[in-house]
Amino acid sequence: MKTKLAILLVLLTGVFFLHSCKKDEKNDSGWDTRPYYLDIPTGFPPANIPAVNPLSVEGVELGRYLFYDPILSSNGLSCSSCHQASKAYSVPSFVTTAGDSISVLPIMNLAFSPDFTWNGQFSTTEAVCMGDFEPQFFNTNMDTLVKRLEASTLYKNMFFRAFGNNAFTSMSDQELKTKIVSAIGQFLRTLVSSDSKFDRYLKHTENLSSTELVGMTIFFTEQGDCFHCHGGALMTSNAITNNGLDSLPAGIDRGKYNYTGNPLDDGKFSIPSLRNIDLTAPYMHDGRFKTLEEVVEFYNSGVHQTSPNIDPIMTKANKAFGLQLTAYEKQCLVDFLKTFTDTAFVSNPAYQNPH
Ligand code: HEC
Ligand code: HEC
Repeated sequence: MKTKLAILLVLLTGVFFLHSCKKDEKNDSGWDTRPYYLDIPTGFPPANIPAVNPLSVEGVELGRYLFYDPILSSNGLSCSSCHQASKAYSVPSFVTTAGDSISVLPIMNLAFSPDFTWNGQFSTTEAVCMGDFEPQFFNTNMDTLVKRLEASTLYKNMFFRAFGNNAFTSMSDQELKTKIVSAIGQFLRTLVSSDSKFDRYLKHTENLSSTELVGMTIFFTEQGDCFHCHGGALMTSNAITNNGLDSLPAGIDRGKYNYTGNPLDDGKFSIPSLRNIDLTAPYMHDGRFKTLEEVVEFYNSGVHQTSPNIDPIMTKANKAFGLQLTAYEKQCLVDFLKTFTDTAFVSNPAYQNPH
């Protein structure tokens, strides 16, 4: 008993000692942050948060202000110009300087995603956001940005609270960008969507209509086979694959191939989550389908079975002539897809414009 007590005491002293050391270290610079505890919905996988950028209350707050602020750009745009709350943080369309139309991805449940952008090129949201300073998005002039931040008491205070450093003029461009994308990355990870009608149906707190139930059966059985790729709590298996959009993909339609150069990646895209899908038209990486009806018709009768590297699920023997859904079944499937809308998510005050 005595030994146990002694061990416990030693352990406790150790814990106190370590704790006070850590505190002193931070207090030396007169700066400390409070951890932000992300509420992980039941059934979701563990959050995938880079060790170098843990969530803090102060970091998330700064990220939220920056996300909605054109201060970062030299063309009047903010992140929220293209990622709008009412569309699950997307907008209908975006055309690149090269003239390609790329569907804007929604921002939701990114804390649980292993890769980002349509072709899955990036492994962190921070890496995606670094690209936003470039000409085709913000066209940011860093000297102007430093001057604007210097002149803002709000940002001087918030940068200090989040990072213990607001000496903008003595930071390199890279250092300043890293702090900005770190804060925004923290904010983005707090955008969690888990309260759709379908979620409530699974919790037995709401019923689905008769057509939605027919759609659900098509979705979760071999009849539609959607669940293999868009199942689970996140409504994506998170794999990168080819669902057969083109017989001979060219340009941006080559997907993952465009950054690996590997012919085995031709036509492959990161499987998108179907959460809030009714809010994020148009559909697919290039927005080629305007409605969910068109998407369902594609899976029903438009899959290019000879597309390179097509996923074997798309070429099962029973699909040689398409899914052969009746008009009624197709409508039911669309009705079911609409149950993935989470209105509490899009109107959550914690994510809205704080300015
Ligand atoms: C001009 C429009 C535009 C602006 C401004 C913009 N984005 Fe995006 N965003 C897009 C498009 C288009 C995509 C899809 C790009 C792709 O996959 O190639 C995207 C993708 C993303 C993704 C990847 C999402 C996923 O699920 O993989 C993140 C994260 C993101 N944007 C965050 C931001 C942040 C943060 C800002 C501000 C710093 C920002 N965006 C500004 C258009 C924009
Ligand atoms: C083999 C995996 C796979 C199967 C099975 C599959 N999908 Fe997809 N789905 C994908 C991929 C990959 C994309 C993105 C393709 C792209 O944009 O190039 C996608 C995109 C979508 C989109 C557009 C998402 C957006 O944000 O624009 C919808 C809607 C969709 N699928 C619904 C379905 C439905 C309904 C079924 C069943 C009939 C189904 N999918 C079956 C892999 C699959």
